[in-house]
Parts: sequence; structure tokens; C-alpha cells
Amino acid sequence: MLRHLLLFFTFFSALLRPSHPRHAPYAMRISCGARNNVHTPPTNTFWYKDFAYTGGVPANGTRPSNISPRLYTLRYFPLSEGPENCYNINRVPKGHYAVRIFFGVVTERNFDNNEPLFDVSVEGTQIYSLRSGWSNNIDEQAFVEALVFLTDGSVSLCFHGTGHGDPAILSIEILQVDDRAYYFGPQWGQGTILRTDKRLSCGAEDPKFDVDYSGDHWGGDRFWNPIITFGQSSDRAIRTTNGIKQASNPPNFYPEALYQTALISTDNQPELVYTMDVDPNRNYSIWLHFAEIDPSVTGVGKRVFDILINGVVVFQDVDIVNMTGGLYAALVLNKTVAVNGRTLTITVHPTNGHAIINAFEIFEVVMAESKTSPDEVRALQALKSALRLPLRFGWNGDPCIPQQHPWNGADCQFDRTSSKWVIDGLGLDNQGLRGFLPNDISKLRHLQNINLSGNSIRGPIPSSLGTITTLETL
Ligand SMILES: *[C@@H]1O[C@H](CO)[C@@H](O)[C@H](O)[C@H]1NC(C)=O
Ligand SMILES: *[C@@H]1O[C@H](CO)[C@@H](O)[C@H](O)[C@H]1NC(C)=O
Ligand SMILES: *[C@@H]1O[C@H](CO)[C@@H](O)[C@H](O)[C@H]1NC(C)=O
Ligand SMILES: *[C@@H]1O[C@H](CO)[C@@H](O)[C@H](O)[C@H]1NC(C)=O
Ligand SMILES: *[C@@H]1O[C@H](CO)[C@@H](O)[C@H](O)[C@H]1NC(C)=O
Repeated sequence: MLRHLLLFFTFFSALLRPSHPRHAPYAMRISCGARNNVHTPPTNTFWYKDFAYTGGVPANGTRPSNISPRLYTLRYFPLSEGPENCYNINRVPKGHYAVRIFFGVVTERNFDNNEPLFDVSVEGTQIYSLRSGWSNNIDEQAFVEALVFLTDGSVSLCFHGTGHGDPAILSIEILQVDDRAYYFGPQWGQGTILRTDKRLSCGAEDPKFDVDYSGDHWGGDRFWNPIITFGQSSDRAIRTTNGIKQASNPPNFYPEALYQTALISTDNQPELVYTMDVDPNRNYSIWLHFAEIDPSVTGVGKRVFDILINGVVVFQDVDIVNMTGGLYAALVLNKTVAVNGRTLTITVHPTNGHAIINAFEIFEVVMAESKTSPDEVRALQALKSALRLPLRFGWNGDPCIPQQHPWNGADCQFDRTSSKWVIDGLGLDNQGLRGFLPNDISKLRHLQNINLSGNSIRGPIPSSLGTITTLETL
């Protein structure tokens, strides 16, 4: 009864104040490969031990970058355990989450090259491919982070081998954020995932997490990389110790300190220009942060600028003091753009005074993939255990997605009627399989052919197979 009442109250307070949640956000941190729970300095962050989430092998690891959490174990997935391996974490409340995965490097292994390259998916959608050189202490490449909606009480994080070493994972964080965090317009929602590409604090000297800035926990403990110049002394850093109004507002709860430093342009080079390489033909969501912290700007109209993305004006006549209503107050602007080429350029072009920018964030907008029909997943799982499929098959995660990594032997097709993936072929010939065919196989209603030749399958062919009307060859 008490429990119900509590739930009732939680429900109503959530309804009444959707953007000012009073309870602590759900946070789950796992120290991969750890036998015991761990606390890490300097913030005494708590990490759960790694128990029964997945297969793979625990090992000692090295921290590939200065910002990796101070954890000394990891988990890696040797090829003998199959190409697809997943952490399945249950009892995650329905909500909006920042999911972050730090990568690791196994110590003491006689590999020519022990930097593994692999793909990462969240809930079946591929969000990242590691690039060679990631372990060379480039802070922002030591992890992948994405904002996702988790709606079915669990989360599946998968690591897909690409033939370049064994995937190795140092840590997993699942941090609840505001339900409306990073709302960018009508396309935003459960069908979109925002993968963090860059998050830079302009004029700052050290890398910082939200926790180092004493940021609100509903912000998701973002990582801010410092940028001290956009190049060739075209700008200078300024800082203030004054308080900043309207900083830690919902839905994004940015830390105040973010607005206490900035880069401003000089007379030599009036514009501020930032360019980065991107993958072409993707959509990017760009978040820009400003606060007027320059004592020489005293009021409205003294600093006015346009913001261009790849040469196109996306915000015109930005006057921070006018828009925030005062000095030392935070202004957040966001814009989502399609990028066809391989570079993304942000330009702050002043029309009066110098250009300024305090921080910015660039996300890749990833469309979440539709999953495989749950009936068909259950049927394949029944088949997996009845045929005692060896580990090397790696039938983990979703059978058909990410599309780049379907299960070995499963042919997938997208069913437009149900908007789900279905299985239309199974090729398990010559795999040395022993076992029987389970009745559940008839749940694969879209099967056109099954090839099980060259195995030692015993027992009868389930009569239920006759109900699969599409089946052509067995
Ligand atoms: C990891 O390192 C500890 C001591 O630093 C050692 O006792 C342990 O055997 C190592 N574990 C593995 C799997 O190598
Ligand atoms: C992002 O920009 C859109 C479009 O201008 C706006 O509707 C939305 O409120 C902004 N999001 C946040 C969180 O400020
Ligand atoms: C980018 O967004 C547009 C809608 O603005 C959409 O039609 C297109 O499919 C998106 N592109 C990608 C690669 O997601
Ligand atoms: C901001 O600019 C608008 C349009 O120029 C003007 O109407 C408004 O009064 C200004 N607000 C402040 C606080 O100066
Ligand atoms: C099934 O697999 C066997 C052995 O690999 C092959 O000889 C046969 O042609 C396959 N059957 C069909 C219908 O594809």
C-alpha cells in the first residue's frame, strides 16, 4: 500500500514538475571486469562490480587516456566467443538516458597491435566505429556517448568485432537525464539518438566532467574538453569568477562554470571559426553557449554577431545582453543541420564589436533502427539452445540489427506491415551442429528456406513447420 502511495506521489510530482525532478536521477555505473564494487577518486564515484551481464573475459587493463575513470580492470571479447557480444542490463526505469562507454586496452598481451577496433551499438542501433589511433591518448576518443530513450525496462549494449582485435570495455555508465534534454525540434524523440561528437569549453584550461564543476546530476555528467584557441592567435581567452544567471536551467542543466570562460576574437581576426571533420551525409545537432562576461561590453547593442554553419547564416543579429536580459547570464542556442560534405564549420561573425563563444556541443543525429519481431527473436533463441549453437556463433543482441552486423546464418528482411525485421532464411549448413528442431521454429513465419544439411540433427521435423506458408526449401 505504502509502495503504491509512493508510486502515486512520484507519478504526480513528475506530472506537475516535469522539468524539476526532485528525486535523484537513475544512475548505473559498471566497472567492467571488476570482481568487487569500486569507488574512484577524486569524486568518490561508485561503480558496480561486473557480474552476469555478459560473456567475455575479465582482465587487467590500462587506461588509454587521462580522462578514463581510474579503473584497472576491463572485459574483453575474444573472437572465439563470436562477433557479437552484449551487456544486457535490466531494471532500468523507462526514461531518457546518457549512455557512455569507455574503451580499454588489455595489459600484458603479446599482440603486435593491441588497440582493438570494433563497432558499438545501443538497443540495436550502431552508434560508433572505433578508428585506429584512438588509444593514443586523445581524450575524446576514449569513449562513446549517446542520448537514448529506454522504454522497455532494460538496455542492450553490443560490441561487434570487425576483425581488428578483441573488443575491450573499461566501463559502462547509464545516467538518466531530463525527459526533454536536448529537445531540438519536431524530429527529436524516441526514434532519434544523439551521439556526442564534440563538447568543448572555450577558454578553459583543463578537461572537466559536470561532476568536477559540481553540475546538476540531471545533466548526465557530460565531459567538456578545453579549447584554448581556434588557431593562430586569432582569439584570446577571458574568464570571470562572477556568478552566471540562468545557467543550470532545465532541461539541460549546464554547469555554471561553463559560462565563466570564453574565447573572444581580436582586431587581427574579427571572426571566430571552428572547423572539424565529420562523416558526410549525416544530420548534426549543434548547441552553442554564450554569456556576456567581458567587462568592456556594458549593455545592449555593444556586441552583435551572426552565426554561420558551413557558410549559411543560422542565427542573425545575436545580441547576448538583449536576449538574456543582462550581463553574466547564460544563452543556449541550438540548430540541427544536414551536412553533405566532410567538414563542419561554425563561424561567429561580428557585425558590432568582437565575436565571443563560451562553449559548444556537436551531436550526430542517428535514426534508431526498428528491432526484429520479438516472436522471431524468441524462436531463434529456442533454436540456439535446441541446436546447442557454439559460442563462436555469437548469437547475442538483436538478430537483424544493427544492419551492419546481423547474426551469422540469419537472413533478414524488413517487413513493412509490422515495421519490424523478420527472418526469411536460415543457413546453418555444415556447422557440426547436434540437437533437435524445436517446435518454436514455426514462429519464424516468414521463412522461405532453411538449410541444415551437413549437421547431426536428430528427432522428428516438427509438424508445426507445415504452418509456415512461405517455406519453399528445407
Ligand atoms: C591483475 O593484476 C593483479 C595485481 O595487480 C593480479 O593479482 C591479477 O592476477 C591480475 N589479473 C589478471 C587476470 O591478469
Ligand atoms: C532548440 O531549438 C529549437 C528551435 O529553435 C527550440 O524550439 C528548442 O526549444 C530549443 N531547445 C532547447 C532545449 O532550448
Ligand atoms: C536528416 O534530416 C532530414 C529531415 O530534416 C531527413 O529527411 C533525413 O533523412 C536525415 N538524414 C539522415 C542521414 O538521417
Ligand atoms: C532587444 O531587442 C529588441 C528588438 O530590437 C527590442 O525590442 C528589445 O527592447 C530589446 N530588449 C532589451 C532587453 O534591450
Ligand atoms: C544447403 O547446403 C549444402 C551444403 O552446404 C549445399 O550443398 C546445398 O546446395 C544447400 N541447399 C540449398 C537449397 O541451398
